[in-house]
Amino acid sequence: MDILKINTDLLSNYISTNDKNIYKDAVRSAHSKMHAGTSVGADYLGWLELPLDDQDLLLDSIGKIANEIQSRSSVFIVIGVGGSYLGTKAVHDALKPYFGSDSVYPEIMYAGQNMSGAYLKQLLRYIEDKEVFINVISKSGTTTEPAIAFRVLRSYMEERYGEEANDRIVVTTDSEKGALKELANEKGYRSFVIPDDIGGRYSVLTPVGLLPLAVAGLDIRALLAGAKQATLDLLEDDLESNSAYRYAVARQVLYAKGYTIELLASFEPSLKYLHEWWKQLFGESEGKGLQGIFPAAVSFSTDLHSIGQYIQDGRRDLFETLLHFNDVEDDQQIPYDSDDRDGLNYLVDRTLNEINAISKEGTALAHSEGGVPVLKIELAKLDEFHLGYLIYFFMKACAMSAYLSGVNPFDQPGVEAYKNKMFELLGKLVLSEQEV
Ligand code: PA5
Repeated sequence: MDILKINTDLLSNYISTNDKNIYKDAVRSAHSKMHAGTSVGADYLGWLELPLDDQDLLLDSIGKIANEIQSRSSVFIVIGVGGSYLGTKAVHDALKPYFGSDSVYPEIMYAGQNMSGAYLKQLLRYIEDKEVFINVISKSGTTTEPAIAFRVLRSYMEERYGEEANDRIVVTTDSEKGALKELANEKGYRSFVIPDDIGGRYSVLTPVGLLPLAVAGLDIRALLAGAKQATLDLLEDDLESNSAYRYAVARQVLYAKGYTIELLASFEPSLKYLHEWWKQLFGESEGKGLQGIFPAAVSFSTDLHSIGQYIQDGRRDLFETLLHFNDVEDDQQIPYDSDDRDGLNYLVDRTLNEINAISKEGTALAHSEGGVPVLKIELAKLDEFHLGYLIYFFMKACAMSAYLSGVNPFDQPGVEAYKNKMFELLGKLVLSEQEV
């Protein structure tokens, strides 16, 4: 099967050929501006052709440090928030075993993604008898949550390891600016660069995601190979032949018809953080100027028994994107039972993954009949290559969708509002630009 297939069969009642054709020229124009680097926010288009670059040197140096970290630690703490950790957690959770940790590799833990005192305190307690390495990741180097976590963990590391602490802290940040960069220079921390032209939520395929994923033992070359294949496959400016643009246009047509909420639904619980990454990508890229599709996510079949009632029968302002990986490693067959009291013998010899796939089809039909526009994104296999492909597919679709709705996909002015209010309440001295 194709690496990624987008299936819009169930959308025919909602989207006509004419609805799509209206967007054809806008898609061509946004595409050529994006690739010429002249679109709005073009300073942040570094991710667009990054997978085509030769990254061997970078991958070698990531591989070297990852090997060292694997041999010298049992816990690797990624400090970061938003785009500085969600992509890593999305890929790692999708591929790591459900139970227990793979003891060959360090356990990946996260900090600085919340402001819970209990979380940080318990993390400190948990690592007490373990060998630790830290990767602090922040493009700006000044985001409050990771800055606080790093201050606490740095002081812990210095107290515990003395001089050696500097060797156990790796920084991923801007090439020149920011407090983190200054500290890295001063302390001699090893560091990786987040390219200037790539923003947080588009950065998982840079050292932001690559180092922690390599430490976790994942095949980052396969991840990048998948992204490269997607980059090549999605180079066409034609709406019909570019699946990312078909997805972007379907979203915009549905939004214009009053379907203002998109529910991303998948059928493997390990994809929960892929949902979270996707929510940030689309929410921060499109939700501005008092408009934008609200990105929400559900995990089926679990959530069919909670929010399923609403989806089937509640307000008709949502559409659903079903995400499915056909081949998932590990499966369980249904055993024969001579009593058959539970009435399940009709399923004997079938596997749970087969039943899961059928439940996806049933869900799509039921929701569609209930008045929910349903589109499907199907991938051949749940592995690094296909996740790399999907990540790039979503980033390109998101940028196109934002351009079609007339907003800059790469800024996030609204995020500042909460920070300013919080700083005011905390009594932080905020200098104006002239005073800095
Ligand atoms: O997409 C973005 O740019 C943001 O969501 C950032 O990822 C997030 O705010 C973290 O920023 P930083 O990496 O500067 O600490």
